[in-house]
Amino acid sequence: MRVVSGIQPTGNLHLGNYLGAIRNWVRMQADMVRTGGECLFFLADLHAISMPHNPAELAGNTREMAAALVACGIDPERSVLFNQAQVPAHAELQWLLNGTARMGWLNRMTQFKDKSGKNREGASVALFTYPVLQAADVLLYQATHVPVGEDQKQHLELARDIAQKFNNDFGNGTDIFTLPDPIIPPEAARIMSLRDGSAKMSKSDPSDMSRINLTDDADTIMQKVKKARTDPEPLPGEPEGLAGRPEAANLVGIYAALEGISVNSVLRDFAGKGFGAFKPALGELLVSHLAPINARFVALKDDRTALEAILAKGAVRARERAAPTLAAAYAALGLVRG
Ligand code: TYM
Repeated sequence: MRVVSGIQPTGNLHLGNYLGAIRNWVRMQADMVRTGGECLFFLADLHAISMPHNPAELAGNTREMAAALVACGIDPERSVLFNQAQVPAHAELQWLLNGTARMGWLNRMTQFKDKSGKNREGASVALFTYPVLQAADVLLYQATHVPVGEDQKQHLELARDIAQKFNNDFGNGTDIFTLPDPIIPPEAARIMSLRDGSAKMSKSDPSDMSRINLTDDADTIMQKVKKARTDPEPLPGEPEGLAGRPEAANLVGIYAALEGISVNSVLRDFAGKGFGAFKPALGELLVSHLAPINARFVALKDDRTALEAILAKGAVRARERAAPTLAAAYAALGLVRG
């Protein structure tokens, strides 16, 4: 088992990232003791330059996101934790895969359409080819499992298509790349904005009230939950009663995911109660889960030396693991490499 996943070091780690992906990373890291496999987790700093960004902030954000992952439970001794920019094999393999990826496949990517919006002509080429770099990220390490939120599913399907075509076209009967399986949590795969139940919780939402950041203190969390958009109806007794009530469904889903119980049992406890009762309970649950993470994050985030050491060590390990597959891809394409 080889588990690989990444996160962009832009903005804060929020509840969507945590429940959709990072919590699964931590669980899979724990599983590795039993399965004897290995996890690689990285800060996707190369992906971060696909959108306008501030170079003066990127390095600091990368370290800060590394601190947030460690605070969530990623152990840099047990997992390989690194940033892409220190492992040139990612960018190299992307170029090699660019020969295999098809324009038509990339044209179908919904995230490019969302992020480029009406300004398609002005979007960067990196934003368009972003999913090919993402494919390189996982194929480079022969990933078998890729824990992500729902919004990354399409990118992972593309990675499988690229791997399959490359194997067929250049493998000469052997598989150069493993086809990775996305691991998407059944619950909390798509946490929605607190201000709009039809938009996903996202770092790029201009309103900070739309998301819970893992760095928010207890007062801020309680305040954001209190102000979260809801409807005037009481909570139903059955999940079907949440149909057409996206904000209510989102808050109940967050509660269920945090508590590790089904939506059904949350509704059994809160049936007939209004948000005046439910919101404080949800706020307290969030605070009790996030306060220890926040405390670890605050203790580590300014320790630049420790964070740089973690990333440097992770990069050495990642480079070692990437080398054989990169060499095999060059050779399969007939490229001469001294
Ligand atoms: P990113 O940085 O947007 O998000 C990191 C992880 O968090 C998940 N996520 C969510 N899950 C549930 N609800 C939400 N509202 C929510 N928002 C974000 C994402 O699905 C993701 O798992 N392209 C990727 C980073 C990446 C990557 C990779 C991931 C680069 N290379 C290779 C996996 C494998 C991204 O921008 O994720």
